[in-house]
Amino acid sequence: MTVRPTPSHNPPAEPATTGPATAGSTDAPAPTEPAITPDLSSRDPNWWRQAVIYQVYPRSFADADGDGLGDLRGLTRRLAHLATLGVDAVWLSPFYPSELADGGYDVADYRDVDPRLGTLEDFDVMVAEAHRLGLKVLVDLVPNHSSHQHVWFQEALRAGPGSPARDRYVFRDGRGRGGELPPSDWHSVFGGSAWQRVPDGQWYLHLFAPEQPDLNWDNEEVRDDFRTTLRFWADRGVDGFRVDVAHALTKDLTEPLRDLGDLAAGGDEALEGMAPGEHPLYDRDEVHEIYRDWRKILDSYSPPRMAVAEAWVPGERRVLYARPDELGQAFNFEYLRTPWDAEELREVITSALEQARAAGASATWVLSNHDVIRHATRLALPPGTDPDAWLLSGGREPAVDAALGLRRARASTLLMLALPGCAYLYQGEELGLPEVADLPADVLRDPIWEQTGHARKGRDGCRVPLPWTRGGADFGFGFASADGTPWLPQPEWFSELSVEAQDGVDGSALELYRAALRVRRGLLSADESLTWLDGAAPGVLHFSRPGGWQVVANTGPTPVPLPTGRTLLASGPLDGGGTVLPPDTTVWLKA
Ligand code: NOJ
Repeated sequence: MTVRPTPSHNPPAEPATTGPATAGSTDAPAPTEPAITPDLSSRDPNWWRQAVIYQVYPRSFADADGDGLGDLRGLTRRLAHLATLGVDAVWLSPFYPSELADGGYDVADYRDVDPRLGTLEDFDVMVAEAHRLGLKVLVDLVPNHSSHQHVWFQEALRAGPGSPARDRYVFRDGRGRGGELPPSDWHSVFGGSAWQRVPDGQWYLHLFAPEQPDLNWDNEEVRDDFRTTLRFWADRGVDGFRVDVAHALTKDLTEPLRDLGDLAAGGDEALEGMAPGEHPLYDRDEVHEIYRDWRKILDSYSPPRMAVAEAWVPGERRVLYARPDELGQAFNFEYLRTPWDAEELREVITSALEQARAAGASATWVLSNHDVIRHATRLALPPGTDPDAWLLSGGREPAVDAALGLRRARASTLLMLALPGCAYLYQGEELGLPEVADLPADVLRDPIWEQTGHARKGRDGCRVPLPWTRGGADFGFGFASADGTPWLPQPEWFSELSVEAQDGVDGSALELYRAALRVRRGLLSADESLTWLDGAAPGVLHFSRPGGWQVVANTGPTPVPLPTGRTLLASGPLDGGGTVLPPDTTVWLKA
Protein backbone atom coordinates (compact mmCIF):
# COMPACT_ATOMS: atom_id res chain seq x y z
CA MET A 1 0.00 0.00 0.00
CA THR A 2 1.33 3.42 -0.85
CA VAL A 3 0.81 6.40 1.39
CA ARG A 4 1.39 9.47 -0.67
CA PRO A 5 1.33 12.87 0.99
CA THR A 6 1.25 16.02 -1.06
CA PRO A 7 4.62 16.33 -2.78
CA SER A 8 6.77 19.29 -1.91
CA HIS A 9 7.30 21.73 -4.72
CA ASN A 10 11.06 22.04 -4.57
CA PRO A 11 13.01 18.81 -4.30
CA PRO A 12 16.39 18.79 -2.64
CA ALA A 13 18.92 18.73 -5.44
CA GLU A 14 21.82 16.64 -4.12
CA PRO A 15 22.30 13.11 -5.46
CA ALA A 16 22.78 10.20 -3.07
CA THR A 17 26.05 9.56 -1.36
CA THR A 18 25.91 6.29 0.45
CA GLY A 19 27.06 5.44 3.93
CA PRO A 20 28.89 2.49 5.39
CA ALA A 21 27.41 -0.96 5.63
CA THR A 22 27.89 -1.27 9.36
CA ALA A 23 26.61 0.43 12.46
CA GLY A 24 27.32 4.13 12.52
CA SER A 25 29.64 5.89 10.20
CA THR A 26 33.36 5.81 9.75
CA ASP A 27 33.61 8.64 7.30
CA ALA A 28 31.60 11.39 8.97
CA PRO A 29 32.93 14.91 8.42
CA ALA A 30 35.72 15.92 10.76
CA PRO A 31 34.24 17.54 13.87
CA THR A 32 36.39 20.62 13.64
CA GLU A 33 35.30 21.37 10.10
CA PRO A 34 31.56 21.63 10.01
CA ALA A 35 30.11 20.41 6.77
CA ILE A 36 28.35 23.45 5.42
CA THR A 37 24.86 22.06 5.01
CA PRO A 38 23.96 21.88 1.35
CA ASP A 39 21.47 24.67 1.07
CA LEU A 40 18.14 23.09 0.25
CA SER A 41 17.86 26.60 -1.10
CA SER A 42 17.60 29.23 1.55
CA ARG A 43 14.78 30.73 -0.43
CA ASP A 44 12.88 27.50 -0.88
CA PRO A 45 9.49 28.20 0.70
CA ASN A 46 9.10 24.49 1.45
CA TRP A 47 12.49 23.82 3.05
CA TRP A 48 10.78 22.63 6.24
CA ARG A 49 8.64 19.90 4.70
CA GLN A 50 11.37 17.28 4.91
CA ALA A 51 13.82 19.01 7.20
CA VAL A 52 15.54 17.73 10.32
CA ILE A 53 15.11 20.28 13.10
CA TYR A 54 17.17 20.17 16.28
CA GLN A 55 15.70 21.45 19.51
CA VAL A 56 18.00 23.41 21.78
CA TYR A 57 16.98 23.95 25.39
CA PRO A 58 19.18 27.02 25.78
CA ARG A 59 19.75 26.84 29.52
CA SER A 60 21.17 23.35 29.16
CA PHE A 61 23.08 23.50 25.89
CA ALA A 62 26.31 25.46 26.41
CA ASP A 63 27.36 28.10 28.90
CA ALA A 64 29.73 30.77 27.58
CA ASP A 65 30.00 32.90 30.71
CA GLY A 66 30.38 30.07 33.18
CA ASP A 67 27.48 30.94 35.48
CA GLY A 68 26.03 27.45 35.25
CA LEU A 69 23.18 28.48 32.95
CA GLY A 70 23.45 27.93 29.21
CA ASP A 71 23.29 31.07 27.09
CA LEU A 72 23.13 32.39 23.53
CA ARG A 73 26.86 32.93 23.17
CA GLY A 74 27.39 29.35 24.30
CA LEU A 75 24.99 28.20 21.61
CA THR A 76 26.75 30.28 18.96
CA ARG A 77 30.07 28.69 19.87
CA ARG A 78 28.57 25.23 19.59
CA LEU A 79 26.62 25.74 16.36
CA ALA A 80 29.38 24.00 14.45
CA HIS A 81 28.35 20.79 16.25
CA LEU A 82 24.91 21.09 14.69
CA ALA A 83 26.26 21.86 11.24
CA THR A 84 28.55 18.85 11.48
CA LEU A 85 25.67 16.73 12.67
CA GLY A 86 23.87 17.70 9.48
CA VAL A 87 20.57 19.12 10.70
CA ASP A 88 18.73 21.76 8.69
CA ALA A 89 17.51 24.00 11.47
CA VAL A 90 17.70 24.73 15.14
CA TRP A 91 14.64 25.47 17.30
CA LEU A 92 15.31 27.36 20.50
CA SER A 93 13.08 26.84 23.51
CA PRO A 94 12.39 30.20 25.23
CA PHE A 95 15.35 32.48 25.97
CA TYR A 96 13.21 35.50 26.89
CA PRO A 97 13.29 37.32 30.24
CA SER A 98 11.73 34.96 32.73
CA GLU A 99 11.96 34.07 36.39
CA LEU A 100 12.07 30.44 35.25
CA ALA A 101 8.98 29.35 37.11
CA ASP A 102 8.47 26.96 34.17
CA GLY A 103 11.88 26.78 32.54
CA GLY A 104 11.31 29.96 30.50
CA TYR A 105 7.77 29.11 29.33
CA ASP A 106 6.77 31.93 31.69
CA VAL A 107 7.70 34.89 29.52
CA ALA A 108 8.02 38.35 31.08
CA ASP A 109 8.87 40.11 27.80
CA TYR A 110 8.22 38.53 24.43
CA ARG A 111 10.59 40.80 22.55
CA ASP A 112 13.81 40.62 24.52
CA VAL A 113 16.49 38.22 25.74
CA ASP A 114 16.89 37.16 29.37
CA PRO A 115 19.98 39.08 30.56
CA ARG A 116 21.36 35.86 32.03
CA LEU A 117 21.25 34.37 28.54
CA GLY A 118 22.55 37.37 26.62
CA THR A 119 21.27 40.32 24.66
CA LEU A 120 19.41 40.95 21.44
CA GLU A 121 22.81 41.58 19.82
CA ASP A 122 23.93 38.11 20.95
CA PHE A 123 20.77 36.76 19.36
CA ASP A 124 21.53 38.52 16.07
CA VAL A 125 25.09 37.15 16.09
CA MET A 126 23.74 33.66 16.74
CA VAL A 127 21.27 33.90 13.84
CA ALA A 128 23.95 35.24 11.51
CA GLU A 129 26.33 32.42 12.43
CA ALA A 130 23.59 29.82 12.05
CA HIS A 131 22.73 31.14 8.61
CA ARG A 132 26.40 31.21 7.65
CA LEU A 133 26.56 27.51 8.52
CA GLY A 134 23.43 26.79 6.49
CA LEU A 135 21.18 26.36 9.53
CA LYS A 136 17.75 27.92 9.85
CA VAL A 137 16.52 29.24 13.18
CA LEU A 138 13.13 28.75 14.84
CA VAL A 139 12.04 30.47 18.04
CA ASP A 140 9.39 29.45 20.53
CA LEU A 141 6.27 31.57 20.83
CA VAL A 142 4.28 31.23 24.07
CA PRO A 143 0.90 32.85 23.40
CA ASN A 144 -1.38 31.04 25.85
CA HIS A 145 0.05 32.64 28.96
CA SER A 146 2.62 35.19 30.01
CA SER A 147 4.66 35.33 33.19
CA HIS A 148 3.01 36.97 36.16
CA GLN A 149 5.98 39.34 35.96
CA HIS A 150 4.90 40.62 32.54
CA VAL A 151 4.07 44.36 32.69
CA TRP A 152 0.54 43.62 31.58
CA PHE A 153 -0.12 41.28 34.49
CA GLN A 154 1.45 43.65 36.98
CA GLU A 155 -0.77 46.40 35.58
CA ALA A 156 -3.80 44.11 35.82
CA LEU A 157 -3.14 43.47 39.50
CA ARG A 158 -2.91 47.18 40.20
CA ALA A 159 -5.84 48.21 38.03
CA GLY A 160 -8.49 46.16 39.82
CA PRO A 161 -11.69 44.34 38.82
CA GLY A 162 -13.45 45.36 35.64
CA SER A 163 -10.48 47.32 34.27
CA PRO A 164 -9.25 47.07 30.67
CA ALA A 165 -5.93 45.82 32.10
CA ARG A 166 -7.67 42.84 33.70
CA ASP A 167 -9.44 42.09 30.44
CA ARG A 168 -6.12 41.07 28.86
CA TYR A 169 -6.18 38.07 31.21
CA VAL A 170 -8.99 35.88 32.53
CA PHE A 171 -10.13 37.31 35.85
CA ARG A 172 -13.39 36.22 37.46
CA ASP A 173 -15.16 36.56 40.78
CA GLY A 174 -15.19 33.42 42.89
CA ARG A 175 -18.11 31.26 43.87
CA GLY A 176 -19.47 30.91 47.37
CA ARG A 177 -20.79 33.60 49.64
CA GLY A 178 -17.60 35.63 49.88
CA GLY A 179 -16.27 34.51 46.51
CA GLU A 180 -13.86 32.27 48.39
CA LEU A 181 -14.28 29.33 46.02
CA PRO A 182 -12.65 29.17 42.58
CA PRO A 183 -14.91 30.24 39.66
CA SER A 184 -14.95 26.67 38.25
CA ASP A 185 -13.54 23.23 38.97
CA TRP A 186 -10.89 23.44 36.23
CA HIS A 187 -7.50 21.96 37.04
CA SER A 188 -4.05 23.14 36.04
CA VAL A 189 -2.14 20.75 33.75
CA PHE A 190 0.60 20.81 36.40
CA GLY A 191 -1.80 19.86 39.22
CA GLY A 192 -4.16 21.69 41.57
CA SER A 193 -6.79 24.29 40.71
CA ALA A 194 -6.38 26.34 37.54
CA TRP A 195 -7.47 29.43 39.49
CA GLN A 196 -5.41 31.64 41.78
CA ARG A 197 -6.89 34.31 44.04
CA VAL A 198 -5.45 37.83 44.18
CA PRO A 199 -5.58 40.13 47.23
CA ASP A 200 -8.71 42.02 46.11
CA GLY A 201 -10.62 38.72 46.03
CA GLN A 202 -10.83 38.02 42.28
CA TRP A 203 -9.35 34.91 40.73
CA TYR A 204 -7.29 34.51 37.55
CA LEU A 205 -6.99 31.51 35.28
CA HIS A 206 -3.69 29.64 34.81
CA LEU A 207 -3.79 26.40 32.87
CA PHE A 208 -0.19 25.81 33.92
CA ALA A 209 1.67 27.26 36.95
CA PRO A 210 0.18 30.16 38.97
CA GLU A 211 3.14 32.18 37.66
CA GLN A 212 1.69 31.69 34.14
CA PRO A 213 -1.60 33.63 33.91
CA ASP A 214 -3.60 32.79 30.78
CA LEU A 215 -4.04 35.61 28.29
CA ASN A 216 -7.51 36.50 27.02
CA TRP A 217 -7.52 35.92 23.26
CA ASP A 218 -10.90 37.62 22.92
CA ASN A 219 -9.04 40.83 23.65
CA GLU A 220 -7.96 42.60 20.47
CA GLU A 221 -4.94 44.17 22.17
CA VAL A 222 -3.59 40.69 22.96
CA ARG A 223 -4.03 39.62 19.34
CA ASP A 224 -2.32 42.72 18.10
CA ASP A 225 0.62 42.39 20.43
CA PHE A 226 1.37 38.89 19.19
CA ARG A 227 1.26 40.12 15.61
CA THR A 228 3.93 42.60 16.65
CA THR A 229 5.96 39.83 18.29
CA LEU A 230 5.79 37.65 15.18
CA ARG A 231 7.06 40.54 13.05
CA PHE A 232 9.72 41.45 15.59
CA TRP A 233 11.44 38.06 15.34
CA ALA A 234 10.74 37.54 11.64
CA ASP A 235 12.32 40.95 10.97
CA ARG A 236 15.38 39.78 12.92
CA GLY A 237 15.74 36.94 10.46
CA VAL A 238 14.22 33.95 12.20
CA ASP A 239 12.96 31.33 9.79
CA GLY A 240 10.11 29.94 11.82
CA PHE A 241 8.15 29.60 15.03
CA ARG A 242 7.16 26.78 17.34
CA VAL A 243 3.82 27.66 18.90
CA ASP A 244 3.42 26.56 22.51
CA VAL A 245 0.08 25.02 23.59
CA ALA A 246 -1.37 26.10 20.26
CA HIS A 247 -4.67 24.38 21.01
CA ALA A 248 -5.54 26.33 24.19
CA LEU A 249 -5.62 29.99 23.20
CA THR A 250 -9.37 30.45 22.75
CA LYS A 251 -11.73 29.35 25.52
CA ASP A 252 -15.43 29.22 26.13
CA LEU A 253 -15.73 31.67 29.01
CA THR A 254 -19.46 32.30 28.82
CA GLU A 255 -21.08 32.58 32.22
CA PRO A 256 -21.74 30.48 34.13
CA LEU A 257 -18.41 28.75 33.49
CA ARG A 258 -18.92 25.10 32.71
CA ASP A 259 -17.63 22.71 35.38
CA LEU A 260 -15.85 19.71 33.95
CA GLY A 261 -16.35 17.14 36.70
CA ASP A 262 -14.30 14.04 35.93
CA LEU A 263 -12.68 15.77 32.97
CA ALA A 264 -11.46 18.69 35.07
CA ALA A 265 -8.03 17.18 35.64
CA GLY A 266 -6.87 18.95 32.50
CA GLY A 267 -4.42 17.97 29.84
CA ASP A 268 -5.21 16.30 26.58
CA GLU A 269 -6.83 13.24 28.15
CA ALA A 270 -9.81 15.47 28.91
CA LEU A 271 -10.48 15.82 25.18
CA GLU A 272 -11.19 12.14 24.81
CA GLY A 273 -14.36 12.51 26.84
CA MET A 274 -15.87 15.21 24.66
CA ALA A 275 -17.08 15.83 21.13
CA PRO A 276 -14.56 17.71 18.94
CA GLY A 277 -14.62 21.43 19.59
CA GLU A 278 -16.77 21.05 22.71
CA HIS A 279 -14.17 21.35 25.47
CA PRO A 280 -14.29 24.86 26.99
CA LEU A 281 -10.48 25.08 27.23
CA TYR A 282 -8.83 23.08 24.47
CA ASP A 283 -9.00 22.67 20.72
CA ARG A 284 -11.89 25.00 20.11
CA ASP A 285 -12.79 25.62 16.49
CA GLU A 286 -12.36 29.38 16.76
CA VAL A 287 -8.65 29.04 17.60
CA HIS A 288 -7.97 28.45 13.91
CA GLU A 289 -8.87 32.04 13.04
CA ILE A 290 -5.78 33.13 14.93
CA TYR A 291 -3.49 30.94 12.84
CA ARG A 292 -5.09 32.01 9.59
CA ASP A 293 -4.37 35.57 10.64
CA TRP A 294 -0.76 34.67 11.52
CA ARG A 295 -0.24 32.86 8.23
CA LYS A 296 -0.85 36.11 6.39
CA ILE A 297 1.94 37.73 8.41
CA LEU A 298 4.27 34.75 7.98
CA ASP A 299 3.63 34.74 4.23
CA SER A 300 4.41 38.42 3.94
CA TYR A 301 8.11 37.48 4.32
CA SER A 302 10.33 36.03 1.67
CA PRO A 303 10.72 33.15 2.02
CA PRO A 304 7.58 32.72 4.11
CA ARG A 305 8.30 31.89 7.74
CA MET A 306 7.32 28.37 8.77
CA ALA A 307 5.50 27.44 11.96
CA VAL A 308 4.77 24.29 13.91
CA ALA A 309 1.98 23.80 16.42
CA GLU A 310 2.40 22.10 19.75
CA ALA A 311 -1.12 20.73 20.04
CA TRP A 312 -1.73 17.66 22.17
CA VAL A 313 -4.93 16.69 20.38
CA PRO A 314 -5.94 13.59 18.41
CA GLY A 315 -4.39 13.27 14.95
CA GLU A 316 -7.40 14.15 12.82
CA ARG A 317 -7.84 17.39 14.81
CA ARG A 318 -4.09 18.06 15.10
CA VAL A 319 -3.57 18.33 11.36
CA LEU A 320 -6.12 21.14 11.19
CA TYR A 321 -3.45 23.36 12.76
CA ALA A 322 -1.08 22.28 10.00
CA ARG A 323 -3.25 23.31 7.07
CA PRO A 324 -1.43 25.43 4.50
CA ASP A 325 -3.39 28.55 5.43
CA GLU A 326 -2.54 28.02 9.11
CA LEU A 327 0.76 26.92 10.67
CA GLY A 328 1.82 24.30 8.10
CA GLN A 329 3.03 21.75 10.64
CA ALA A 330 1.97 20.25 13.97
CA PHE A 331 3.97 17.90 16.18
CA ASN A 332 2.79 14.33 15.95
CA PHE A 333 2.89 13.17 19.55
CA GLU A 334 1.06 9.91 18.82
CA TYR A 335 4.27 8.64 17.28
CA LEU A 336 6.21 9.59 20.41
CA ARG A 337 3.69 7.74 22.53
CA THR A 338 3.76 4.55 20.46
CA PRO A 339 5.66 1.62 21.97
CA TRP A 340 8.41 -0.15 20.04
CA ASP A 341 5.95 -2.46 18.34
CA ALA A 342 5.75 -2.98 14.58
CA GLU A 343 2.00 -3.29 14.34
CA GLU A 344 1.26 -0.20 16.41
CA LEU A 345 3.95 1.80 14.66
CA ARG A 346 2.63 0.90 11.25
CA GLU A 347 -0.86 1.99 12.21
CA VAL A 348 0.33 5.32 13.63
CA ILE A 349 2.63 6.03 10.69
CA THR A 350 -0.06 5.21 8.15
CA SER A 351 -2.70 7.35 9.75
CA ALA A 352 -0.29 10.26 10.35
CA LEU A 353 0.67 10.25 6.66
CA GLU A 354 -2.94 10.03 5.54
CA GLN A 355 -3.97 12.83 7.88
CA ALA A 356 -1.10 15.04 6.75
CA ARG A 357 -1.96 14.42 3.13
CA ALA A 358 -5.63 15.20 3.66
CA ALA A 359 -4.71 18.48 5.32
CA GLY A 360 -2.09 19.37 2.70
CA ALA A 361 0.56 19.41 5.42
CA SER A 362 3.90 17.66 5.79
CA ALA A 363 4.08 14.88 8.37
CA THR A 364 6.20 15.38 11.49
CA TRP A 365 7.99 12.91 13.73
CA VAL A 366 9.49 13.34 17.18
CA LEU A 367 10.83 10.89 19.73
CA SER A 368 12.17 13.15 22.47
CA ASN A 369 11.76 16.71 23.69
CA HIS A 370 12.12 18.71 26.90
CA ASP A 371 8.77 17.47 28.24
CA VAL A 372 9.11 13.69 28.05
CA ILE A 373 11.38 10.90 29.27
CA ARG A 374 14.23 10.57 26.79
CA HIS A 375 13.56 7.80 24.29
CA ALA A 376 16.79 5.95 25.05
CA THR A 377 15.17 5.21 28.41
CA ARG A 378 11.48 5.24 27.56
CA LEU A 379 11.77 2.49 24.98
CA ALA A 380 13.26 0.13 27.57
CA LEU A 381 10.59 0.66 30.21
CA PRO A 382 8.41 -2.45 30.48
CA PRO A 383 4.94 -1.95 28.92
CA GLY A 384 2.51 -0.46 31.39
CA THR A 385 5.17 1.27 33.51
CA ASP A 386 3.82 4.43 35.11
CA PRO A 387 6.50 6.99 34.19
CA ASP A 388 5.79 9.17 37.23
CA ALA A 389 6.09 6.27 39.66
CA TRP A 390 9.24 5.12 37.91
CA LEU A 391 10.81 8.58 38.23
CA LEU A 392 9.78 8.78 41.88
CA SER A 393 11.67 5.53 42.48
CA GLY A 394 14.79 7.25 41.11
CA GLY A 395 14.61 5.10 38.00
CA ARG A 396 15.12 1.91 40.03
CA GLU A 397 11.69 0.27 40.00
CA PRO A 398 11.66 -1.31 37.59
CA ALA A 399 15.35 -1.33 36.70
CA VAL A 400 15.98 -0.31 33.10
CA ASP A 401 18.24 -2.21 30.72
CA ALA A 402 20.26 0.74 29.38
CA ALA A 403 21.80 -1.28 26.55
CA LEU A 404 18.36 -2.34 25.36
CA GLY A 405 17.15 1.26 25.57
CA LEU A 406 20.05 2.51 23.49
CA ARG A 407 19.61 -0.24 20.90
CA ARG A 408 15.94 0.60 20.51
CA ALA A 409 16.61 4.33 20.50
CA ARG A 410 19.09 3.92 17.65
CA ALA A 411 16.68 1.67 15.74
CA SER A 412 13.69 3.94 16.25
CA THR A 413 15.69 7.00 15.23
CA LEU A 414 16.77 5.34 12.00
CA LEU A 415 13.15 4.40 11.39
CA MET A 416 11.99 7.96 12.06
CA LEU A 417 14.60 9.49 9.80
CA ALA A 418 13.41 7.33 6.92
CA LEU A 419 9.79 8.46 7.14
CA PRO A 420 8.41 11.07 4.76
CA GLY A 421 8.22 14.48 6.34
CA CYS A 422 10.06 16.49 8.94
CA ALA A 423 11.89 15.03 11.96
CA TYR A 424 12.51 16.89 15.21
CA LEU A 425 15.52 15.92 17.34
CA TYR A 426 16.09 16.94 20.94
CA GLN A 427 19.52 18.01 22.14
CA GLY A 428 21.53 15.11 23.52
CA GLU A 429 19.63 12.36 21.73
CA GLU A 430 22.46 12.29 19.19
CA LEU A 431 24.62 11.14 22.11
CA GLY A 432 22.14 8.42 23.04
CA LEU A 433 21.61 10.16 26.39
CA PRO A 434 19.24 8.35 28.70
CA GLU A 435 17.01 10.09 31.24
CA VAL A 436 18.72 11.23 34.45
CA ALA A 437 16.12 9.60 36.66
CA ASP A 438 17.79 9.92 40.05
CA LEU A 439 18.00 13.70 40.46
CA PRO A 440 17.59 14.37 44.17
CA ALA A 441 14.48 16.21 45.31
CA ASP A 442 16.37 19.30 46.42
CA VAL A 443 17.61 20.11 42.90
CA LEU A 444 14.30 19.72 41.08
CA ARG A 445 13.12 22.88 39.29
CA ASP A 446 10.09 21.69 37.36
CA PRO A 447 6.94 23.30 38.86
CA ILE A 448 5.21 19.94 38.51
CA TRP A 449 7.13 18.72 41.57
CA GLU A 450 5.70 21.35 43.93
CA GLN A 451 2.30 21.67 42.30
CA THR A 452 1.55 17.98 42.65
CA GLY A 453 2.63 17.94 46.28
CA HIS A 454 5.68 15.86 45.31
CA ALA A 455 3.57 13.19 43.62
CA ARG A 456 5.32 13.78 40.26
CA LYS A 457 8.97 14.68 39.83
CA GLY A 458 8.45 16.31 36.46
CA ARG A 459 10.73 16.85 33.51
CA ASP A 460 14.13 17.88 34.86
CA GLY A 461 15.66 14.49 34.03
CA CYS A 462 15.70 15.27 30.31
CA ARG A 463 16.97 18.83 30.83
CA VAL A 464 20.34 18.15 32.46
CA PRO A 465 23.12 20.26 30.84
CA LEU A 466 24.87 18.50 27.97
CA PRO A 467 28.25 16.79 28.29
CA TRP A 468 30.69 18.05 25.66
CA THR A 469 33.98 16.75 27.05
CA ARG A 470 35.00 13.63 28.95
CA GLY A 471 36.41 15.54 31.85
CA GLY A 472 36.09 18.84 33.66
CA ALA A 473 33.79 19.77 36.49
CA ASP A 474 30.86 20.22 34.10
CA PHE A 475 31.92 18.06 31.15
CA GLY A 476 32.60 21.12 29.02
CA PHE A 477 29.13 22.60 29.45
CA GLY A 478 30.73 25.88 30.54
CA PHE A 479 33.49 27.54 28.57
CA ALA A 480 34.65 29.99 31.22
CA SER A 481 36.76 28.94 34.15
CA ALA A 482 34.39 30.58 36.67
CA ASP A 483 32.72 28.37 39.24
CA GLY A 484 29.91 27.43 36.93
CA THR A 485 28.09 24.68 38.71
CA PRO A 486 25.50 23.57 36.15
CA TRP A 487 21.97 24.47 37.16
CA LEU A 488 21.13 20.76 37.30
CA PRO A 489 23.78 18.25 38.41
CA GLN A 490 25.26 15.97 35.75
CA PRO A 491 25.89 12.31 36.57
CA GLU A 492 29.40 10.83 36.36
CA TRP A 493 28.39 8.56 33.49
CA PHE A 494 27.91 11.61 31.26
CA SER A 495 31.68 11.46 30.66
CA GLU A 496 31.57 8.39 28.44
CA LEU A 497 28.57 9.76 26.52
CA SER A 498 30.11 13.18 25.89
CA VAL A 499 30.62 14.55 22.39
CA GLU A 500 34.37 14.18 22.86
CA ALA A 501 34.05 10.53 23.83
CA GLN A 502 31.95 9.70 20.75
CA ASP A 503 33.44 11.96 18.13
CA GLY A 504 35.00 9.90 15.35
CA VAL A 505 34.26 6.63 17.17
CA ASP A 506 32.87 4.10 14.75
CA GLY A 507 29.52 2.79 15.97
CA SER A 508 28.90 5.59 18.48
CA ALA A 509 25.46 7.15 18.64
CA LEU A 510 26.90 10.45 17.48
CA GLU A 511 28.46 8.91 14.38
CA LEU A 512 25.25 7.02 13.65
CA TYR A 513 23.27 10.29 13.69
CA ARG A 514 25.86 12.03 11.51
CA ALA A 515 25.83 9.20 9.01
CA ALA A 516 22.05 8.94 9.02
CA LEU A 517 21.57 12.63 8.32
CA ARG A 518 24.14 12.61 5.55
CA VAL A 519 22.76 9.51 3.87
CA ARG A 520 19.17 10.74 4.28
CA ARG A 521 20.04 14.01 2.59
CA GLY A 522 21.30 12.09 -0.40
CA LEU A 523 18.27 9.81 -0.58
CA LEU A 524 15.45 12.32 -0.18
CA SER A 525 13.39 13.22 -3.16
CA ALA A 526 10.45 15.54 -3.59
CA ASP A 527 8.18 12.53 -3.44
CA GLU A 528 6.93 12.24 0.15
CA SER A 529 5.44 8.78 -0.26
CA LEU A 530 5.99 5.49 1.52
CA THR A 531 5.01 2.00 0.32
CA TRP A 532 4.56 -0.82 2.82
CA LEU A 533 6.04 -4.03 1.44
CA ASP A 534 4.24 -7.34 1.85
CA GLY A 535 5.58 -10.39 3.57
CA ALA A 536 7.29 -8.79 6.57
CA ALA A 537 7.68 -11.24 9.47
CA PRO A 538 5.68 -10.53 12.64
CA GLY A 539 7.32 -7.70 14.57
CA VAL A 540 8.98 -6.34 11.44
CA LEU A 541 8.30 -3.16 9.48
CA HIS A 542 9.33 -3.11 5.85
CA PHE A 543 8.70 -0.25 3.47
CA SER A 544 10.20 1.44 0.49
CA ARG A 545 10.71 5.09 -0.31
CA PRO A 546 11.11 6.52 -3.80
CA GLY A 547 14.41 5.84 -5.51
CA GLY A 548 14.84 2.26 -4.32
CA TRP A 549 15.40 3.12 -0.66
CA GLN A 550 14.15 0.31 1.58
CA VAL A 551 13.80 0.30 5.32
CA VAL A 552 13.48 -2.75 7.56
CA ALA A 553 12.98 -2.41 11.32
CA ASN A 554 12.88 -5.41 13.62
CA THR A 555 10.91 -4.64 16.78
CA GLY A 556 10.44 -8.32 17.68
CA PRO A 557 12.52 -10.79 19.68
CA THR A 558 13.64 -12.95 16.73
CA PRO A 559 16.38 -12.30 14.13
CA VAL A 560 14.99 -12.14 10.59
CA PRO A 561 16.61 -12.57 7.17
CA LEU A 562 17.19 -9.28 5.36
CA PRO A 563 15.82 -8.78 1.86
CA THR A 564 18.44 -8.53 -0.84
CA GLY A 565 19.95 -5.15 -1.36
CA ARG A 566 22.99 -3.08 -0.53
CA THR A 567 23.08 -2.02 3.12
CA LEU A 568 23.45 1.73 3.39
CA LEU A 569 23.26 2.05 7.13
CA ALA A 570 22.30 -0.06 10.12
CA SER A 571 21.46 1.01 13.64
CA GLY A 572 23.49 -1.87 15.10
CA PRO A 573 25.59 -4.84 14.06
CA LEU A 574 24.01 -7.25 11.59
CA ASP A 575 24.33 -11.02 11.80
CA GLY A 576 25.03 -13.69 9.19
CA GLY A 577 27.64 -11.63 7.40
CA GLY A 578 25.13 -8.81 6.91
CA THR A 579 22.21 -10.99 5.84
CA VAL A 580 20.31 -11.21 9.13
CA LEU A 581 18.62 -8.39 11.02
CA PRO A 582 18.82 -8.86 14.81
CA PRO A 583 16.08 -7.72 17.19
CA ASP A 584 15.83 -3.99 17.94
CA THR A 585 17.69 -3.02 14.79
CA THR A 586 16.80 -0.96 11.72
CA VAL A 587 18.54 -1.07 8.39
CA TRP A 588 18.44 1.15 5.30
CA LEU A 589 18.96 -0.72 2.05
CA LYS A 590 19.27 0.19 -1.57
CA ALA A 591 17.25 -2.36 -3.50
C1 NOJ B 1 4.52 23.16 26.57
C2 NOJ B 1 5.99 23.27 26.82
O1 NOJ B 1 6.66 22.38 25.97
C3 NOJ B 1 6.19 22.96 28.27
O2 NOJ B 1 7.54 22.83 28.60
C4 NOJ B 1 5.53 24.02 29.10
O3 NOJ B 1 5.62 23.68 30.46
C5 NOJ B 1 4.06 24.17 28.72
N1 NOJ B 1 3.84 24.16 27.32
C6 NOJ B 1 3.52 25.48 29.25
O4 NOJ B 1 4.07 26.54 28.53
